[in-house]
Amino acid sequence: KKVVLAYSGGLDTSVCLKWFLEQGAEPYALYLDLGQGEPAEDVREKAIGIGAADAFVRDAKEEFVNDYIAPAIKANAMYGGEYPLFTALGRPLIAKKLVEAAREVGATHIAHGSTGKGNDQVRFDVTTASIAPDLTVVAPVRDWGMNRPEEIAYAEKHGLPFSPDITKKSPYSIDANLYGRSIEAGPLEDPNYEPQSDVYKITADPTDAPDTPTYVEIGFEQGLPVSLDGERLSLLDLLVDLGEVAGTHGVGRIDMIEDRLVGIKSREIYEAPAGVSIIQAHKALESMTLTKDVIRFKAAIEQRYAELTYDGLWFTPLKSALDAFIEETQKTVTGTVRLRLYKGSATVVGRTAEKALYSKDLATYDAGSTFDEAAAAGFITLWGLPARQWADVNGDSNKA
Ligand code: ARG
Ligand code: SIN
Repeated sequence: KKVVLAYSGGLDTSVCLKWFLEQGAEPYALYLDLGQGEPAEDVREKAIGIGAADAFVRDAKEEFVNDYIAPAIKANAMYGGEYPLFTALGRPLIAKKLVEAAREVGATHIAHGSTGKGNDQVRFDVTTASIAPDLTVVAPVRDWGMNRPEEIAYAEKHGLPFSPDITKKSPYSIDANLYGRSIEAGPLEDPNYEPQSDVYKITADPTDAPDTPTYVEIGFEQGLPVSLDGERLSLLDLLVDLGEVAGTHGVGRIDMIEDRLVGIKSREIYEAPAGVSIIQAHKALESMTLTKDVIRFKAAIEQRYAELTYDGLWFTPLKSALDAFIEETQKTVTGTVRLRLYKGSATVVGRTAEKALYSKDLATYDAGSTFDEAAAAGFITLWGLPARQWADVNGDSNKA
């Protein structure tokens, strides 16, 4: 049987590859570049060396940014109000690419290296069910019950190429792409343990960050960032550049207890300098351009959107329907937001919008306001009518 495996070049998926061969399957390896920053060069060679029938290395950064991150930005998608969902957004794309490769080589199975305790398995399996229900998904790490020392022994026994210091390697489980980096496991499993510097890679410790702030001006068009400090950039380049400068200032470190889909609470450390900055800026521009009603209603949509993204329901009718709502709200979200990056925080310090609903003439406390204050008194009488009525009828339970 032909099976296409999402291959990272690491221990887990290398063992998977060998294991498939032992089962008599014909495994193909697919390595996707989502901007995780690992060297992609020798991954193909490595997979072929282990015995893959063929190995593909593909750059999916543009697709990731345009079809997954962009709608998540418009939706201000943050799981638990904090996590910009970069891992969760990458999974449906990886599954889609696995399906594409399976069609190319005529495979009936696709495979991934997720464990049985996490969200990632759900995302791979449910995405595949959504877009290619005829394919079977295999998750060897979930099924074979090997722990890490056993995997290492297995790799040694079969002469798999892996770095000799893997045993004293980092105790963390790491997933990264161009939109962020997640770190779990090891000492972090104690929720009271403070993460040390060995956990972080793309953000500076705020204590060591520059003593002078950097200001960045992000230009938006219809809800998406299009320029940085006046320079027009592709969304991909913009996120990379912004992530770098925000990371230098220690922006985007997140430490949270997260509710997994499978019911487990887990301790997660995230670094998402670009995501944290961009969503903050996007919200600031929305507050200038959307009506109060739309902002309030959209907040509920955003939370649902984050949940379905987290829960592996990317390719579902609810997701498409919410996208349509969000798209409609973004038509006038055009303008600029100025952020001050300093010692771990990104602070909005200014905003302009072509179709700003903010009106200085209405808001000002100075002379020349066009707001009719005399009308306020009558408005308040009617606004408060139900409250007054209730008090009159129900007596003094509420009265001071
Ligand atoms: N908890 C995050 C999520 O569910 C990150 C998972 C990271 N995956 C990993 N293999 N370390 O999206
Ligand atoms: C995994 O189980 O492979 C990683 C953790 C997760 O998916 O949440």
